[in-house]
Amino acid sequence: MDLASFSQQLEELRQRALRTVADAADPRALEEVETNFLGRRGELRTLLGTIGRLPAEDRPRVGALANPIRQELEEQIAARRDRLNDIALEVRLARERTDVTLPGRPQPRGSLHPLHETEREIARIFGQFGFVSFESPEVETDELNFQLLNIPADHPSRDLWDTLYAVPRGDARPGGAQADGAPPTDGASASLPRLVLRTHTSPGQVRAMRQYEPPIRVLVPGRCYRYEAVDASHGFEFFQVEGLMVDEGTTMAHLRGLLDEFAHAMFGQQTGTRFRPGYYPFTEPSVAFDISCLICGGVGCAACKRTGWLTILGAGMVHPVVLRNGGIDPERFQGLAFGMGIDRIAMLRHSIPDIRAFIDNDLRFLERF
Ligand code: PHE
Repeated sequence: MDLASFSQQLEELRQRALRTVADAADPRALEEVETNFLGRRGELRTLLGTIGRLPAEDRPRVGALANPIRQELEEQIAARRDRLNDIALEVRLARERTDVTLPGRPQPRGSLHPLHETEREIARIFGQFGFVSFESPEVETDELNFQLLNIPADHPSRDLWDTLYAVPRGDARPGGAQADGAPPTDGASASLPRLVLRTHTSPGQVRAMRQYEPPIRVLVPGRCYRYEAVDASHGFEFFQVEGLMVDEGTTMAHLRGLLDEFAHAMFGQQTGTRFRPGYYPFTEPSVAFDISCLICGGVGCAACKRTGWLTILGAGMVHPVVLRNGGIDPERFQGLAFGMGIDRIAMLRHSIPDIRAFIDNDLRFLERF
C-alpha cells in the first residue's frame, strides 16, 4: 500500500461519514454514527491502525492527512446535533402553539344576590345622611336580644318573637330548647349565658352604643331567625337592617324626615308615607311606617288588603332604659331607631311574590338579577 491509496481510503471514509451524519434523523442515530466512525473501535482508528503497511518515510505524513478529517467530522457532528435540537424545539413549539387570535372563552359573570343588592341600596341611601355599617353577631345572648332591649325574661312581649334558642354543645337536658320552640325552662347551662339565634338586628343598637360615644349613626344589616311556619311571606331565616341614631336633640321629626327620604329614594318621589302607632318594648313612642301601595297607588287592592298602604318597617324613639343599658345618659341624649326586613323591601322593589325564592338557590331566579 502507498500513501496515495491510503489517502484515497481516508477520503472515501470521510465522504461516507459526512453523508451518514447528514442523514442522522435523531440524536440517538447521531450518537451511533459518532461511535462508528470516531470511537475507540471506530473506522478511523481501524484505518489508522494499518499505517504499518505504508513505507516508513510516508508514515509521519499520515497525521497531517487524518487530523483535519477527524476535526471536520467532529465539527459536522456538533453542527448536526445543534440542528436536530433546533428541529425538536420547533416541533414542540408548533405542537404547543397558542392561537392568540382565538376569541377567549367567556367567563360566566356573577351578579349580586337581590338581597345584597337591596342591602347596598339601603346603605347607600342612609349613607348620604352619615350612617355607617356596624356588624353584630347572629348568635346572640338572650340578654342582648331581649333583656337589655327592655324585654324581661317572662314578659308577654317576648311572644312577639318566636325564638330559636341555641343550646350549648353536649347539653341535652330538658332545660335545653324545646321541640316546639318554647324557651328553655331554665338556663341552658348554669355557667354559660343562654344563647339565641338573633330574632332581630336590634341587639346591634346596644352593642353600637356600648362601642361608640354619641353622635352615633349606624346601620346594622344581617341575617335573623325566627321559629316560623314558612310560607310565601314568612321565612325562619330572613334579613333585616337596623338603623340607630343617637345625638343631642334628636326627635321624632328627624325619624320622620329620614324615613320619608328613604321611601322616596327607594320607591320613587310620588310614594306616600305615614306613621301609625305601634308597639315595641325598646322604643317609646313606637310606630309602624307605611308607604302607599306600589301596586294600586293607594286606591286599595289585594296586595295591600284594600287599605292602600304597605307597612315596611317598625321604628320609634329609643327607650330611655335601652339608652342607659347602652351606657348613654338619656337626660342628655335621645335616640331614634328603625328596623326593616330586607326581604320585604326587595320583594316590593322587584315584584317577587314568594320570600322563599331568596334562599332556594334556584339559578333561574338568581340569573334574573
Ligand atoms: N326589631 C323590631 C322587629 O324586628 C323592629 C324595630 C327596630 C322596631 C327598631 C323599632 C325600632 O320587629
